[in-house]
Amino acid sequence: MHRPKVLITRRWPAAVENHLSERYDVTLNESDVPLTASALRDAMLRYDALCPTVSDAIGADIIETPGATVRIIGNYGVGTNHIDIAAARRAGIVVTNTPDVLTDATADLAILLMLMATRRAGEGERELRAGKWTGWRPTHMVGQSIGGRVLGLVGFGRIGQATARRAKHAFGMSIAYYSRKRAAAEIERELDAQYFDSLDELVASCDVLSLHVPGGAETHHLINRDRLAAMKPTAVLVNTARGSVVEEAALAEALKARRIAAAGLDVYEHEPQVHPELLSLENVVLLPHLGSATVETRIAMGMRVAQNLDRFFAGQDLVDRVV
Ligand code: DGY
Repeated sequence: MHRPKVLITRRWPAAVENHLSERYDVTLNESDVPLTASALRDAMLRYDALCPTVSDAIGADIIETPGATVRIIGNYGVGTNHIDIAAARRAGIVVTNTPDVLTDATADLAILLMLMATRRAGEGERELRAGKWTGWRPTHMVGQSIGGRVLGLVGFGRIGQATARRAKHAFGMSIAYYSRKRAAAEIERELDAQYFDSLDELVASCDVLSLHVPGGAETHHLINRDRLAAMKPTAVLVNTARGSVVEEAALAEALKARRIAAAGLDVYEHEPQVHPELLSLENVVLLPHLGSATVETRIAMGMRVAQNLDRFFAGQDLVDRVV
């Protein structure tokens, strides 16, 4: 029986690669070097399924390859802003993603960044490793408490709500949010969450601003120079969403001038490049896109892709269909 041909563009956890290899005619990327646009175009002509990640730019130039045989793009990840969804729709190619399974890991990382940024953890570690720590003293590297402070969430989907839950129940923060769609009354009640219909007002009134919107044209530079200027001088920005949501150069300026207190970033406008100004600042914590990086989560993400492929090739309804 013909087994569908599947291309996995990066190394995935071994358990998932093995699982997929038992079911499909799989090509793995043993070297783990990102594929070029021309290799991706070539793949469009040779496979039934393409399984990319956020590090692959799947634009219209790739999707609309004449004579493409790929019928499904099974993305490993929840965000699909690196895939031209409109082009996939035009080409009749199905796109799926992996929601739910990375919610907790990403919310955990948002809290980690919030704590690291407010408690100056990166700065402290750098001082100690550089042999510059002279010992305990009452005025040494004091940060801010988050208990009782207002957490403002931009975007209030699964990950935003999971972050709010942790912030409220574990740290006693108050929850405020801005979202295009207001959450159900029971969620607002559970989290005692205050809804803002104006992003400008949320930005100006919270102590920690945490971003949880998808990437793409609609959210590009949502947190721009003006909104950074409107934040409290004591405020902290946390971004585990997409780098494009923040005007990175303006953020570097705001941090340098101490117009905001600190930031914790996991994502960047031009990954894997990071704005050079940010690299030299003490008041920013910089992580390399680790939101979903736990063993359990990365396996679950791969298994979710496998499930999507299974359903697609069995002609069943797709739970995680993006288009
Ligand atoms: C996601 O799932 O979107 C993560 O950012 C990794 O791609």
